[in-house]
Amino acid sequence: MKIMVIGGGGREHAIIRTLKKNPKVTEVYALPGNGGIAADAVCVDIGAKDIEAQVRFAVDNGVEFAVVAPDDPLVLGAVDALEAAGIPCFGPDKKAAIIEGSKVFSKGLMNKYNIPTAASAVFSSVVSAMEYVKTAPLPLVVKADGLALGKGVIIAQTRQEALAAVETIMLDKKFGASGDQVVIEEFLTGPEVSVLSFTDGKTVIPMVSSMDHKRAHDNDEGLNTGGMGAVAPNPYYTDEIAARCMEEIFKPTVAAMAKEGRPFRGCLYFGLMLTPNGPKVIEYNCRFGDPETQVVLPLMESDLLTAMIACREGTLDRADVRFSKGAACCVVVASEGYPESYEKGYEITIDDDAGVFVAGAKKSDDGRLLTNGGRVLGVTATADDLPAAVRRAYENVEKVHFANAFFRRDIGKRALEA
Ligand code: AMP
Ligand code: GLY
Repeated sequence: MKIMVIGGGGREHAIIRTLKKNPKVTEVYALPGNGGIAADAVCVDIGAKDIEAQVRFAVDNGVEFAVVAPDDPLVLGAVDALEAAGIPCFGPDKKAAIIEGSKVFSKGLMNKYNIPTAASAVFSSVVSAMEYVKTAPLPLVVKADGLALGKGVIIAQTRQEALAAVETIMLDKKFGASGDQVVIEEFLTGPEVSVLSFTDGKTVIPMVSSMDHKRAHDNDEGLNTGGMGAVAPNPYYTDEIAARCMEEIFKPTVAAMAKEGRPFRGCLYFGLMLTPNGPKVIEYNCRFGDPETQVVLPLMESDLLTAMIACREGTLDRADVRFSKGAACCVVVASEGYPESYEKGYEITIDDDAGVFVAGAKKSDDGRLLTNGGRVLGVTATADDLPAAVRRAYENVEKVHFANAFFRRDIGKRALEA
């Protein structure tokens, strides 16, 4: 079977490695992939947002199944275009991807169907947003409506900060049209849990839970990043909480999307906060998370391709989806300076690439692997339990070398303390 994966980060590398465990997978194309993914797939220089070129490539090359991994192409309708051209896809269509593409939509959905989330208000005028901010209880969370590379959320401790956040999003248009509307919501507290799930629009099967580490530096200090590491499972997510989330959040969300005429097929990501008043949704993503995927998929025992096909065909209730009882830890090795400015082009050497998922790297003309992004790679280890997985991941980090590398030393610490 010829498979095409759209995207080019550590998440896509993990998806490709996992798909390749199925012997039916004979060929994998990555669009665009990256210098490290090139070891596992044929990388094709077509960008993740170039939907027309993706469709042409898939048709011309006899692609039999496509996985659309990143948010941008999903929200832009890559699945609609590929399916219309006869290419079966894993991923939500445009109508369903709006669950991530518009926070105004997702808050509206949760309010309409009584799915627990932070209390919020929506504004499309700067004046009324600023008026609201002047009296609402602090701290406040100000969110751009649309996609913003994970950076459209500003937590304001003071009124001044909240006003500045509204200005940045709505007036300066830091995130472009994504800031035409803002959601302003109450600040919630409690441990955060990421739950990725498979769904075919009717049945929902959660994968093993995970914990992201979003801040750049140890002890959760420094700027927010795309994620500096992850562990799975998340120890805060007990069986009791999982059962509650299934009844109060997962099933109601999937049913609500179907009811709205937007059945969601693909990976639905629940970003949850376990507040003193129970689990609440912080955000939905219409895709696999990164780096969460780098710890979740290595724990998958059943076949990924089978689950993906079942999501598309509506047969998930009969599918075999299993995860191991073990644990995984992923430490992201980044370029010094990330998430702000950093240098690129340093040679990467890896003593043993087992468990290394490459995110930001390219091949030089003479075939060397060079750094080419902020998050360069993720080092994942699995083990019977979390302490062993964390230890092993850090041992393996020592096998990766490049100039100006930096990584957090405390991935998994919070989970181990839980
Ligand atoms: P998001 O991009 O929506 O995942 O938000 C980024 C991060 O902001 C989340 O992972 C949370 O840590 C934090 N966050 C978002 N919404 C809230 C909220 N209502 N209360 C507290 N923290 C929040
Ligand atoms: N790690 C968070 C995300 O993928 O959005």
